[in-house]
Formats: sequence, structure tokens, C-alpha cells
Amino acid sequence: MLRILVPGKTGKVGRELLGALAPLGTVIGLDRTQMDLADEGSIRKAVRDAKPDIIVNAAGFTIVDRAESEPDLAMQVNGVAPRILAEESKRIGAILVHYSTDYVYDGELNRHYTEDDVPNPVNIYGKSKLAGERAIEAVGGAHLILRTSWVYSTRGSNFVLTILRLAREKAEISVVNDQTGSPAWARSLAQATADLLRKRNLFPGRGGIYHLSSAGHATRHEFAEAIVRTMKDITGRSDGWASVKPITSAEYPLPAKRPRNPVTSKDKIKRVFSVEMPQWESQLRFFIADIVASDSRAAVTPGKA
Ligand SMILES: NC(=O)c1ccc[n+]([C@@H]2O[C@H](COP(=O)([O-])OP(=O)(O)OC[C@H]3O[C@@H](n4cnc5c(N)ncnc54)[C@H](OP(=O)(O)O)[C@@H]3O)[C@@H](O)[C@H]2O)c1
Repeated sequence: MLRILVPGKTGKVGRELLGALAPLGTVIGLDRTQMDLADEGSIRKAVRDAKPDIIVNAAGFTIVDRAESEPDLAMQVNGVAPRILAEESKRIGAILVHYSTDYVYDGELNRHYTEDDVPNPVNIYGKSKLAGERAIEAVGGAHLILRTSWVYSTRGSNFVLTILRLAREKAEISVVNDQTGSPAWARSLAQATADLLRKRNLFPGRGGIYHLSSAGHATRHEFAEAIVRTMKDITGRSDGWASVKPITSAEYPLPAKRPRNPVTSKDKIKRVFSVEMPQWESQLRFFIADIVASDSRAAVTPGKA
């Protein structure tokens, strides 16, 4: 039976991996009390205790704006800890699967990024994630680095839940229309990761960096409009939701600069492993239908929050 270690089991992706990877073997999820990525000894001990065949690292310092004020911690968790995980994986001959981000790019290219394009992160979070990628590559064990984007789920704070809440509470919400990305449901990302691991016999000689996110892309404003439209459609309630107004990033300043258009091509992972995620719109529909089906009247009733 394969043993699969999943640090970050409380996060959006980690939580979904616990289910998606279960058919492949024994999944050992770890929270930060069991593996603290800011503590080298804790990382080494957790891996040595678990003796996994595969590590899928879903833990990370993911609060993009907070990384600007806590750069040392962001770098420790995103930049240094992956090296330690990679060293421990290599020592026991395990495969390391690690998530990175489209924020390693500056987003200024006027075409989709390929994995061969040169990263140039514009914020601390992106720099720390790039450092983590490079550290894993330098260790040189078996690894896959999956650059994903705009992840949402029913957990934690994320764009979809925020828009759904604001759309019930307000008459109008303003959303930036000059940042583009591929929104990814954490469940689809976890399923695609499981698909990849089913093909691990193909890994030798094919490790490295891959883009893995939904097909298609949208601006934040288009994504927000789609969230509200889909909610109206699925609930059958057309009134009472906020309208969504496009604004520029300059009108909505945040501590961390965002890349403008870091849209990634997903051709490589499709070509090499025949793995791809569905269109972002269909995932969003599944996600919202899931929320509505599991009720929570508050989530689907405009003006009642
Ligand atoms: N979310 C996105 O839009 C996005 C986009 C591109 C790439 N990614 C990457 O995808 C991966 C998963 O992201 P996600 O969206 O699932 O993140 P998330 O929901 O914010 O979850 C992050 C996880 O990391 C854990 N964590 C944070 N600091 C830790 C520490 N010092 N030691 C141990 N665990 C720690 C958190 O534990 P607690 O629950 O205790 O805080 C949580 O389980 C990350 O590598 C992220 O960089 C995410």
C-alpha cells in the first residue's frame, strides 16, 4: 500500500487531497502542529516518522498581502521548507509533489506563459514560492512542481466565498478588471493531482515544473460576475444580488502588487501526462451547486445575511 504524506491538510487543497488521494493508498494528513514548516526539526521528524512513498505538500504561507509584512516567515515556509522536504524525500526515495503559483511571473507577457518563460515575481509571496521551486530543483530528487492559480473551496477565505457574501450584503461591489487568471476549484486540482500520481510510472525523466490549473481564464471582474450569475441561475433567485462594477487595481490598492496577466499554458502537462483540468466555468457551476445543495440558507438568500 502506498503511503502518501499530505502536509497542510487543513487548507483548501490539502483538505481535498485527503479524499482524492484515498483510492491510491494510505493518506497521512498533517496539520501545522504535526509538521511546522517554519521548524526544520519538525519537518524532518514528521517525514522520518511517516516513511512515505509520496509527499504532496499542500502547506504554504498563502496570504499574499501578509507576506509583505512578514517576509522572513514567508520565505522560511515557502522558500526554505521545500528544500528540507526535498532532502528528506530524496533520502528515502520518495516522490515530492509541491504546489507553486502563477505569481512567479510578472504577468506582463502578452501571451500565455509556458514553463520555459523566465519567472520575475512582483511581490514577496511570488519571490518566496520561486525560491521554494529552485530549492527543490537544486536538491535533485524525484519531484513535480505544480504551478496553480486562484484556488477556491468551501474552506478559509477565498475569492468565491467573499464575492458570494458581498453579493448578498451589498447593492454594488467593485472588482478589479485588470488582473487575469485561471480560477481553480481545489477539488478539481486535487483530482488532477491524483490523476498524475496514477501515472507515476511515467515520472522518471519527466519531473520538474508544470502548470496545472483550469482551462480558460478570466479577469477578476469577469470571475465575480460569473459567480453571481451562476448563483442566480442555480438558486432561481434573480433579484437581490449586488451588481458587479469593474475597477482598476489602482483604484483598489493592496499591500502586495499583483501580476497583471500571468495566464499559464497548460499544454505541457496535457502533452506529457495527458492530465488536464476542466474549464473554470464548469467547475464553478459544480462548486456553487454543491454549496446550494448542502443548503446553508444564509449562503443562497440575498439580503438575509
Ligand atoms: N490559494 C491560491 O489561490 C493559490 C494560488 C496558487 C498557488 N497556491 C499554492 O497552493 C498550495 C495550497 O494552497 P491553499 O490555497 O490550499 O492554501 P490555504 O488554504 O491557505 O492552506 C494553507 C495550508 O498551509 C498550512 N500552513 C501555513 N503555514 C504553515 C506552517 N508554518 N507549517 C505548517 N503548515 C502551515 C495551513 O495551516 P493552518 O490551517 O493551520 O493555517 C493550511 O493547512 C500552496 O502552496 C499555495 O502557495 C495557492
